[in-house]
Amino acid sequence: MKSDWNPESDRVIRDQVAAYDEMRERCPVAHSESRGWSVFRHADVMQILNDHPTFSNQVSRHQSVPNGMDPPEHTPFRQIIEPYFSPERVGAFEPVCREISSDLLSELSVGGSDVEVMSDLASHFAVRIQCAFLGWPSSLHEPLLRWAEQNQSATRARDRVALSTLASELDAIVDDLIQQRSQCGAKKDDDVTASLMHETVHGRRLSNEEISSILRNWTVGELGTISASIGILIHHLADNAEHQSTLRRDRCVLLAAMDEILRVHNPLHSNRRTTTCPTQLGGRDLDAGERVDINWIAANRDPSAFEDAGMVKFDRSPKNNLLYGAGIHVCPGAPLARMEMRVFMESLLDQTLGFHLQPESPASLESYPASGYATVPIHVQWK
Ligand code: HEM
Repeated sequence: MKSDWNPESDRVIRDQVAAYDEMRERCPVAHSESRGWSVFRHADVMQILNDHPTFSNQVSRHQSVPNGMDPPEHTPFRQIIEPYFSPERVGAFEPVCREISSDLLSELSVGGSDVEVMSDLASHFAVRIQCAFLGWPSSLHEPLLRWAEQNQSATRARDRVALSTLASELDAIVDDLIQQRSQCGAKKDDDVTASLMHETVHGRRLSNEEISSILRNWTVGELGTISASIGILIHHLADNAEHQSTLRRDRCVLLAAMDEILRVHNPLHSNRRTTTCPTQLGGRDLDAGERVDINWIAANRDPSAFEDAGMVKFDRSPKNNLLYGAGIHVCPGAPLARMEMRVFMESLLDQTLGFHLQPESPASLESYPASGYATVPIHVQWK
């Protein structure tokens, strides 16, 4: 089939947010060789999310719990993981999260006022918070940071060999953590990883492969999206003194403000589906077995769903915001992610008098498969 666009063009790589806005108006369901069907409009994305029998999550031959599953297989696994993000669990983790945020910022303040948000702050916060949540040792911080970088490069290069090697590497790390807990007879409430080892599905314990897949999905999800989100949030506030002072004055607005800033610049690029039968989407005919890419960045900036879609308005209704998805695969980790980012931003506002972009070194944008920024150099006035 003839391509409607070239996702690898300079234009898209230079500024994917602007390029996807343009695609949403010009060709809202667009085919390309590398990504299959890319879906840019809010309404078309909602059609996909509400019709999981036609748009299946089984997009790969590798097991992916629960992301790569459809009902009825998906349902019991989803039920197992949801309680890990309950208000009680998330609330109990908040003091740990506050300590990690505060320590990280204090360490950074010693280095002076010039900070590169992505490498000095965002990625370190994501990896520390993830290890703490799962009960993993700090000796894994550096290996996981390296792993996340390499995984992103391999995805960008569509290097299947490297991706498969990286998947095995992460499996080996996770298997080792499971093994250590098995050997010492870890109890259910020792940590999140041990707790998963005691979960049952269809009357049997989860297999090591299933636990490993769950932990891998949480790790990949968290490292990429939390780190991208921190970059986007700080960039916006560094660039918008009025919004920064509003949040310094009134912390109650913070959660709504974060959801809105991240709507306008979505930290997650896309998620995949496969068609199970011939269907129509946005006036295009799709065959069975076709790859469909939900483009969260474009759908969340669709003027048909949001008035002045490109503007950050802290008092905007959260209705229609697709930051955490919708439907049966809606992000179960959203309460955890929102708490972690709120606490981090509170610590940042508490420990600084102000921060702004460095005029002499502008921020640089990320491109597929990532979103957000590659670098965000800022000047910080520490307290
Ligand atoms: C800012 C941070 C995050 C954002 C923006 C985000 C966004 C999303 C979105 C849009 C989906 C739906 C994907 C789809 O429909 O295919 C999703 C699913 C998922 N997310 Fe998140 N997420 C975040 C953080 C997290 C965290 C911290 C965790 C766990 C530790 C997590 C675990 C998951 C899982 C397991 C799924 C798949 C659920 C299912 O298939 O039923 N996410 N996330």
